[in-house]
Parts: sequence; structure tokens; C-alpha cells
Amino acid sequence: MPGLIERHMDRLPFEKGDPIISLGEGNTPMIYACEISERVGARVWLKLEGLNPTGSFKDRGMTCAVSAAVRDGSNAVICASTGNTAASAAAYAARAGITCAVVVPGGKIAQGKLAQSLIHGARVIGLDGNFDEALKLVRELVETEPVALVNSVNPFRIEGQKTGAFEIHDVLPDLAALAIPVGNAGNVTAWWKGFQEVGAAPRMFGFQAAGAAPLVLGHPVENPETIATAIRIGNPARWTEAETAFAESNGSVRTVTDEQILEAYRLLANKEGVFCEPASAASVAGLLVHGADGVEDVVCVLTGNGLKDPDTALAQGGGVTPCEVDIEALRAVVLG
Ligand code: F0G
Repeated sequence: MPGLIERHMDRLPFEKGDPIISLGEGNTPMIYACEISERVGARVWLKLEGLNPTGSFKDRGMTCAVSAAVRDGSNAVICASTGNTAASAAAYAARAGITCAVVVPGGKIAQGKLAQSLIHGARVIGLDGNFDEALKLVRELVETEPVALVNSVNPFRIEGQKTGAFEIHDVLPDLAALAIPVGNAGNVTAWWKGFQEVGAAPRMFGFQAAGAAPLVLGHPVENPETIATAIRIGNPARWTEAETAFAESNGSVRTVTDEQILEAYRLLANKEGVFCEPASAASVAGLLVHGADGVEDVVCVLTGNGLKDPDTALAQGGGVTPCEVDIEALRAVVLG
């Protein structure tokens, strides 16, 4: 299967003959959510972006950003990240044979993302600060150093991520709304751009964690906090673009609490069989809490794989029942 640059080259800033760094990203499944549909009172679909090669939607943007960096002669990339961008940049840089540095909030990213970044050979820098501070520093660094910045301030990231909208539009051309978690606001910007390019205009329902909700509050949050570490961001780089997307699509941006996020996270796993990471569950939590505003159908973007964050799953799931090697003991614990 070709990757998304080859599939969508007519709508992306690439030409035949350009170097393409791909891991076979995109073309993710979209499945119907029976239980959630019933609770929300609308047809709810789940777009499983956690099934991209590194387990998050970032791969759509990263294939474009790293391919462009290689085309332009870069031999190093850098990003600030809450974890998924780091894992994706590390993987695509490894594939391209170039070096990669990732700057993450020290001790505040999920274990799976850290493991990915390390095993792909990135230089992992644990900053004594949050994502916003990391992004500010990295932007400053690339002004003087010959390193390509692959955060979503890089337009190639937006170009790649907009292809999710093409895939949904092929299946649901009259879709009424998209529910999406919002952190640095690159993804909602990209999805809205993608829908516009195919002449569609579903309402963009964005959701932020209550402790990290600058777009809802209307001002930056100095010390963002949430269990959904992927969206622990207080000053989104794509602020104005996100506001435009919400306004032009007749959408909205609202908050969900950590408890509501975790409830949706458990519900997705228990009732729909879908294991996503906490930040991703914010889209479903938003619909459960705020309703679907009368729309008939809505797609929730489940941005990252649950395996990214085993610690949260272990804390939220049931415990392990011990058992000695004995059939009666086993019968008792299995049936008990
Ligand atoms: N969901 C997940 C799983 C994410 O990793 C992110 C962002 C978002 C949602 C929000 O997307 O930032 O485009 O609004 N993660 C970035 C990172 C910040 O560094 O991995 P956004």
C-alpha cells in the first residue's frame, strides 16, 4: 500500500520524483460506536488514528514534514512535544537516516511515547518546563541552527494531517460534525482545511481538558494541568487558525474534566472495544457531556493508541487476580 503522499499527491505540495519518507500512514479504520451513539442520540463514528504506524495521527503530518526536510537538504529535525510528535519524528527520521532531537516536558509524557522516541534513536531532552516553554525554546534554536522544525507550526504538518478529512469525506460526504481534542490546535486546523478542500463543512466541535483550556478561556494558561498529558498545553501555536475553524464551521470549543475524560476512556474500552489514550477520549467525553447539538452524525477523532500510556490504563483497569497452579483454585477465581 502506498503512503498518503503518493495517494494524495494531487492535493499535497509534492511532485513525482520527490523523495518520500513513508511508513504506510493514513487509511485508518472508521468504525460505528453503538453504545456511544445510543447515549449521545446521534450516529457516532470513531476514526481510529491510533492505528497509524507510530500509533497516532502525527504520522500523517510527519511523512510530509520529514519528506520536505529531506528534499530541502536537511539532515536533522527537531520538535517540542508532549510525546506523540516526538515518537513520530523519531521514527520518520530513523527511516530517512537523519538525526532527530525531541524536547519534552521532563517526567510528563506517557511511557510508551518515551520508549518509542528512545528506541528510534532520537536525542531525548527532558526539559524542566512544560510544552509551551519547550516549543518557544525550540523555535528560537532553529533560527540559528540548520535543523528543520517539525512541529505543527511547519505547514507540511498541516498538509499531511488534512488527509484525514479526505478519507472521511469519501465515506460520509454529508457528515454533520467532527469531534476532536485540541491541544496545540494544529490538528483541528488541518481537518478544517481538508474538509474545505473537498467542499465539505462539518461543524468542528473541539474539546480541551478543563485544566488546559486556553481557547475556551480566551487567554493562555500558564500552568496547564490534565491527566491527558498529550493536550497539556496552555498557549496553542495555531490559536487563530483554530478560532477561525470553530467560527467558520459554526462549531464550538468546550471543556471536559479529567474525570469525564477517564469515564469516556473506560467506556470506549469496556463497551466499544477501543483502547485509545486519554487525550483522544476527550472527543467522546465532549459529546457525552455537552451532547451533539442536534446533529445527526458525528465522527470522533481518536487521535492516539491506548498502548501509548500503559500507566493510566493500569490505574484505571481492574487488578490482576493471583492463582496457584491448581484446577480447583483456577475454577474458583475464574467463576467466582
Ligand atoms: N491527541 C493526541 C493523542 C495528541 O498527541 C495531541 C497533540 C492532540 C490530541 C492535540 O492535537 O496539538 O494538534 O491540537 N500532541 C502534540 C505532541 C502536542 O507533541 O504530541 P493538536
